[in-house]
Amino acid sequence: MSELVIMAPNSDEQPARLPRLLSGIQPTSDSYHLGNYLGAVKQWVSLQSSYEAFYCVVDLHALTLDLPAPDVLRERTRVSVAQLLAAGLDPQQCTLFLQSHVPEHTRLSWVLECMTGYGEAARMTQFKDKASRGGAEHHSVGLLTYPVLQAADILVYEADAVPVGEDQRQHLELTRTLAQRFNSRYGNTFTVPDAVIPKATAKILDLQDPSKKMSKSLGDAGTINLLDDASSLTKKIKRAVTDTDTAVRFDPEAKPGVSNLLTILGALTDRPVHDVAGDFDGQGYGALKSAVADATVAFAEPFAKRTNDLLADPAELDRILADGADRARAVASVTLAAAYERIGFLSPTEARR
Ligand code: TYM
Repeated sequence: MSELVIMAPNSDEQPARLPRLLSGIQPTSDSYHLGNYLGAVKQWVSLQSSYEAFYCVVDLHALTLDLPAPDVLRERTRVSVAQLLAAGLDPQQCTLFLQSHVPEHTRLSWVLECMTGYGEAARMTQFKDKASRGGAEHHSVGLLTYPVLQAADILVYEADAVPVGEDQRQHLELTRTLAQRFNSRYGNTFTVPDAVIPKATAKILDLQDPSKKMSKSLGDAGTINLLDDASSLTKKIKRAVTDTDTAVRFDPEAKPGVSNLLTILGALTDRPVHDVAGDFDGQGYGALKSAVADATVAFAEPFAKRTNDLLADPAELDRILADGADRARAVASVTLAAAYERIGFLSPTEARR
């Protein structure tokens, strides 16, 4: 993980500020999975006290694959917010908000779209993967411009760092390119952000197909949903694909399924993966799977309870989001105004004169 230090003041008048962090997560399912948690959200929680942290539920991005029914989107958005709080985000320490509450994201996104080549957007691996699933007629322009809106999410906060899983590396590269392109055309405006990608848990693999990342789009059997009950979690883990050998060893090339289980166990118990592997010397895969199931249930059960307790008070969730949106807009509006001014848009006050 890249180390960041408190930034020095830019000038004599400006006080040092904590380095800024932004990340986002989609509200596209009824439960986050272990890949989301270990690849991203766990880092969000541990970084929130040492950064000025902005975390957003990217509900605009949730329309890019299909259009969920309005009540489904509302429900998933609330469940997402509740899960982030249940995972340990503290609204006193970080700013938690919804992307659709801060219009500066889409206002910047338009400008960045005009600076992105069509081919550049169409070359994004995630776009190609997702578009190939539905067929050309079935994917939206929003799916193509998804990473540009993501760039706007980040740049409008002048974020220094963006904690994400490995699958977001290419989108972060595009974000850096767009920041640099804008800065060289219009003068220094945007911070060029660094991706913060965890070493051990950057890519949690699907339990049924350990050649692919865990993702709800691959189907339910290989995905550990955090809100599943103990018995279905245990069943899924016991059915995880391993290999025909019997030795428990951390070797991601030769033994991806077993290594994935060791990674999960290490991350959930906060232990180095090689230590964890040593516990199973002379034991078979059954013992490893039982230990992974126990650790997963020990995490997921209280997590689901906290999520449900939070969902029981929707007014409090709305209050946290309203407060988050105010704090987010206070920052985003300043960056957007500077960018618009540099582009040459008349400010609304000038236009009224
Ligand atoms: P989303 O919702 O698809 O994923 C949220 C986060 O979970 C990580 N992740 C994984 N990490 C490890 N192993 C896995 N199997 C796994 N699956 C998912 C993702 O890397 C991500 O960090 N495009 C973003 C959402 C976004 C965003 C942003 C992120 C929109 N705007 C601005 C950062 C900054 C995404 O992948 O969401």
